Amino acid sequence: MSNSTFFKSIGYKVLMALSGFFLMFFLVQHLTINLLSIFSADNFNEVSHFMGTNPLVQFLLQPVLIFAVVFHFVMGIFLEYRNNKAREVSYAYNKPSANSTWMSRNMIISGLTVLAFLVLHFIDFWIPEISTKYVLGDMSGLLPSGEFRYHHELQEKFIHIERVIAYVVSFIFLSLHLMHGFQSSFQSVGFRQNKNMIFLSKLSYLFAILIPAGFISVALFHYFNH
Ligand code: HEM
Repeated sequence: MSNSTFFKSIGYKVLMALSGFFLMFFLVQHLTINLLSIFSADNFNEVSHFMGTNPLVQFLLQPVLIFAVVFHFVMGIFLEYRNNKAREVSYAYNKPSANSTWMSRNMIISGLTVLAFLVLHFIDFWIPEISTKYVLGDMSGLLPSGEFRYHHELQEKFIHIERVIAYVVSFIFLSLHLMHGFQSSFQSVGFRQNKNMIFLSKLSYLFAILIPAGFISVALFHYFNH
C-alpha cells in the first residue's frame, strides 16, 4: 500500500467514526425523548412539539442529521467495497473467523438492515410529519379535539403486530451494529492501548445492549398499552 492510499484509508475511517459518534449521540437523545412517551404523555407531547417546531432544530440540526445518516451509509458501502477488493487475496491465507467477531465481519449486513428500517421509519413518522407541517401548513401540533397529536400518533403506529416485529428485529440488528461500531469508532480516532481495550469493549457491549433494549421497550410498551 502506498503512503497516500494508507493515509486516505485512515482519513475515511476517521470520518466514518466521527459520523458514527454523531449518530450514537443522536440515538441517546432520540431514546430519551421516546422513553418520555412511556412515563408521561404530556411531557412527550411538549418535547415533541418543541423539537418539531423550533427553527434551530428543524433547519440546522435536522439537515445535519440527515447529512450524517446519508454520509455514514454511503461511506460504509464504499469502504466495504474497497475492503472486499483488498481482501480477495489475503482471505485465501487467513482464517477470518478465528481472528474477528461475526459483528465486525458483517457490519454491512447489520448496517443495511438498519438502513431498511430507516426507510420504513421515515415512511411511518418523518414523511407524515413533514407533510402535516410544510405541505398542509399545520404547525399547531393539535388534534381536532384540541389535544397534542404526537403521543396519539405514536400509539397508533404500534397497534399493528407486524410493525412491532419489524421494529424489534431491526433493533436487534442495530445492537449487533453498535457492538462493533461503538468500539471501532474509538479505535479509529486513536484509542488503542491494550488496557483500555477491555474497558472499551465492555462499554461497547453495554451501549449496544441498553440503547436498542430501550427502543424495544418503547415499541412493546405502546403495543401492549393502547
Ligand atoms: C421504538 C423506537 C422508535 C420510535 C417510537 C421512534 C419515533 C420517532 C418519531 C416520533 C420521530 C419524529 C418524526 C419527526 O418529527 O420528524 C422519529 C424520527 C426519526 N427517527 Fe425514530 N423512533 C424510534 C427508533 C429509531 C431508531 C432506532 C433510529 C435510528 C437507527 C431512529 C431514527 C430516526 C431518525 C433519523 C428520525 C428523523 C429525525 C428528524 O430529522 O426529525 N429512530 N422517530
